[in-house]
Amino acid sequence: MDSPLIPFTAHNIELPDGTVTRPGASLTAKEPVTQAVLRTLDLFFPPAGRAHTTVIDLGCLEGGYTVEFARAGFDATGLEAREVNFSRCQLVASQLRLPNLHFVRDDVRNLAQYPLFDVVFCSGLLYHLDRPATFLKLLGERSRRLLILQTHYSLGSGVPAHFDLSELVEHDGHLGRWYREFAEEPDPDEVEASNWSSYGNSRSFWLERSHLIQAIRDAGFSTVYEQPDFVANNVTDHYIEEQQRSLFVAVR
Ligand SMILES: C[S@@+](CC[C@H](N)C(=O)[O-])C[C@H]1O[C@@H](n2cnc3c(N)ncnc32)[C@H](O)[C@@H]1O
Repeated sequence: MDSPLIPFTAHNIELPDGTVTRPGASLTAKEPVTQAVLRTLDLFFPPAGRAHTTVIDLGCLEGGYTVEFARAGFDATGLEAREVNFSRCQLVASQLRLPNLHFVRDDVRNLAQYPLFDVVFCSGLLYHLDRPATFLKLLGERSRRLLILQTHYSLGSGVPAHFDLSELVEHDGHLGRWYREFAEEPDPDEVEASNWSSYGNSRSFWLERSHLIQAIRDAGFSTVYEQPDFVANNVTDHYIEEQQRSLFVAVR
């Protein structure tokens, strides 16, 4: 088969006929972050008997991580609000035909309407929400065992920031900084076409790092680890510091 007609923007997924969704890009399966997440899943859920272990991938974009969870043997569901992204997920699902790979078009704020999941994977999403601490509480209620969270955070006063963030303010019970994504009343077509952005809120609240960790704990996760080995090299790669972004593992 030729490459899919709809151009993919981020996830490069290998299809059964050997073609990929983003020719020339590195495979999502081989990315250091994917490998780091799969190592954590291996620790908590040894391969034998994982068929009934459920994973929800929140804001799954084009489904690249959801696919890898399914390929690793989990019962994997990707949740994505944007039609343009969801259609790519559907295309991937129709090619792969894996019985344990599911995609649903919905807003992640509706998670209470779904069954509990053993693992909640929340990558690149929390910092697109306007009430992240409230959302973390929802994740605490819907997760049976693990939350794997890859997210930006904001930093305290006096620390140079690489993003156009507001002053440090209190909101939703925590300190953080606002990030504007759209005008107050954005054009719906613009929102729909902005593949990687927020959905349903025009500005997002980036929790300050220590508040982020406390909000995870307050959500009912007794144990929180940072997993810095999601970058290729911790000496030469400054992604965590420059992006104010890391990978956290929270255990109930
Ligand atoms: C920066 S991308 C991250 C995609 C993917 N999780 C990853 O890590 O590569 C944010 C994704 O979340 C989706 N999204 C944003 N707000 C959402 C919401 N309220 N409900 C569902 N999906 C949402 C966007 O459409 C986009 O696919």
